[in-house]
Amino acid sequence: MHLSSLPLLLLLILHSTTAALAQTAPALSPGPAPATDVNKILIKAGQFTVLLRLLRSTKVADQINNQLGSTNSELTFFAPPDNAFSSLKTGTLNQLSDQQKVQLLQFHLVPSFISISNFQTLSNPVQTQAADTYEYPLNITTNGSQVNITTGVVNATITGTVYSDNQLAIYQVDRVLQPLGIFAPRPLPPAPAPAPPKSKKKADSENGSPVASVDASGAFGGAVRRLWMVMSFGVSVFAAIFL
Ligand SMILES: *[C@@H]1O[C@H](CO)[C@@H](O)[C@H](O)[C@H]1NC(C)=O
Ligand SMILES: *[C@@H]1O[C@H](CO)[C@@H](O)[C@H](O)[C@H]1NC(C)=O
Ligand SMILES: *[C@@H]1O[C@H](CO)[C@@H](O)[C@H](O)[C@H]1NC(C)=O
Ligand SMILES: *[C@@H]1O[C@H](CO)[C@@H](O)[C@H](O)[C@H]1NC(C)=O
Repeated sequence: MHLSSLPLLLLLILHSTTAALAQTAPALSPGPAPATDVNKILIKAGQFTVLLRLLRSTKVADQINNQLGSTNSELTFFAPPDNAFSSLKTGTLNQLSDQQKVQLLQFHLVPSFISISNFQTLSNPVQTQAADTYEYPLNITTNGSQVNITTGVVNATITGTVYSDNQLAIYQVDRVLQPLGIFAPRPLPPAPAPAPPKSKKKADSENGSPVASVDASGAFGGAVRRLWMVMSFGVSVFAAIFL
């Protein structure tokens, strides 16, 4: 065998070993957890018929169930009951586009599991599944076990726990959480002004940085050289033993 093909051979052996390990890994994990169905939970709880209708018509219920089906995904859901929807101005929901209905529901979902005692550890604004915290800001304040939520349009409070395991928490809220982005859009903030030109003095004091980056690439080059030396050594040992 020609010596130059050895590194490739070693790499192939290494690769197939790690690939085999990776393939066997999932077998070690326990079987799928029993599927959580947000519809069933809300039907059982009662008082959520409007929310259930919205969740189904927008297919957000399916999204939630799919998310819960994948391990490691967590959700906290603020669920307004029927009386919260009926205190909205007449026609509020009907005036929303399908996309806005989806955004409204996603605004009620936080992509992590928050236990009732962990609300006090959150920093505002809290990231929801509606993602954009400028148009969809959600602030949470607590006082003991009291948890208040403000959106800039409404102030709400958590009135009870509907469901909680270690992956999904559903809390009943007394108001529909109406986001600014849908109900009171505000102008986007001005684009950040271009950075003012640096003064001569500042530029001088930063002279160190190009040197630092050369150093960094030198270190990287060194690491590559060391890796290469280790590999060549491995090849020689391999050759010494097997050839
Ligand atoms: C929560 O809201 C209630 C009613 O608006 C208010 O009395 C209370 O002070 C608020 N608590 C906190 C911690 O924001
Ligand atoms: C927190 O609750 C205590 C008693 O429950 C009350 O005296 C206090 O004013 C509340 N603080 C806020 C900020 O709501
Ligand atoms: C939410 O909290 C952020 C950060 O503390 C604050 O700047 C913002 O004004 C708050 N918004 C509302 C609606 O309370
Ligand atoms: C929400 O609460 C804040 C402070 O507690 C208050 O300034 C604001 O007017 C309230 N907003 C609404 C819509 O009730």
